[in-house]
Amino acid sequence: DWTMGAYRAEAVAKIREQVGDAKVICGLSGGVDSSVAAVLIHEAIGDQLTCVFVDHGLLRQGEADEVLTMFRDHYNIPLIHADESELFLSALDGESDPERKRKTIGRLFIDVFQKHAGEVGGAEFLAQGTLYPDVIESVSFSGGPSVTIKSHHNVGGLPEKMGLKLVEPLRELFKDEVRELGRELGLPDRFIGRHPFPGPGLAIRCPGEITREKLEILRRADAVYLDQIRKHGLYDEIWQAFVAILPVRTVGVMGDGRTYDFACALRAVTSVDGMTADYYPFSHDFLGETATRIINEVPGINRVTYDITSKPPGTIEWE
Ligand code: XMP
Repeated sequence: DWTMGAYRAEAVAKIREQVGDAKVICGLSGGVDSSVAAVLIHEAIGDQLTCVFVDHGLLRQGEADEVLTMFRDHYNIPLIHADESELFLSALDGESDPERKRKTIGRLFIDVFQKHAGEVGGAEFLAQGTLYPDVIESVSFSGGPSVTIKSHHNVGGLPEKMGLKLVEPLRELFKDEVRELGRELGLPDRFIGRHPFPGPGLAIRCPGEITREKLEILRRADAVYLDQIRKHGLYDEIWQAFVAILPVRTVGVMGDGRTYDFACALRAVTSVDGMTADYYPFSHDFLGETATRIINEVPGINRVTYDITSKPPGTIEWE
């Protein structure tokens, strides 16, 4: 595609001009945005770039390994793997306020990132895969009054505290354009097609108190749900799909026994840019089969609901 080819060349030139021969560090989340940003910047300045992958213990099942393997298989970019799950999970233990969850994660992320960035030594720039919708949603809601809907954890705060300048080569792009740029840069399709995953991770899919027990149940239910979606060939039709574990136990019956376990909600939406979204019209057969599998395969869940809220008035994530 000529347009993206031109964008790529222009972006590479701009990065070189901005950065000169300074060092750059980049927070890698494993998502499409930060990966595309990293590959683009690597193309521009090579080993002046080091990536830091912070595992906050709020990733999906198998996600950390998947991301690290994928990155090591496909790129030769220096990468620091910071496993900090204990730190994050103990700080979040029992926390139930959505904004405090986000702020705690954002603050710890800064600490951890800063600690590991120190290992790089003398970096002057911080690279982020910030997209256009991240920029505007953090300030105002489209067309509405200027209110903060959610504190996106990858925008603001970090560079000032670290005395770093920002490199944000995707700041003018929407998600579909980032995917196109990723293809242009030769990232594997499997990777480019990944559903977005929010920086605060499973913390915002666990409304109410975050506990390790709930996170583990959530991970298992989410894995079954995504397996169902892949098996039915629906993954690429959906913008984002995930399970949220609800902060309520409900009564059920299994075999001859009474159960008293958590309820969960399935979420799946279609969207172009994440700014608006419609719930995905699964067949009743799909929903029924998925509910049965989750209840049978995931101890701790005895009730499954499907979230049919569009955005607006809902948001995609539950918090
Ligand atoms: P909402 O829930 O605001 O989400 O409708 C819109 C899109 O943004 C993702 N999201 C985030 N991404 N940091 C991120 O990198 C965040 O703090 C964050 N919060 C929400 C969400 O997954 C959806 O794709």
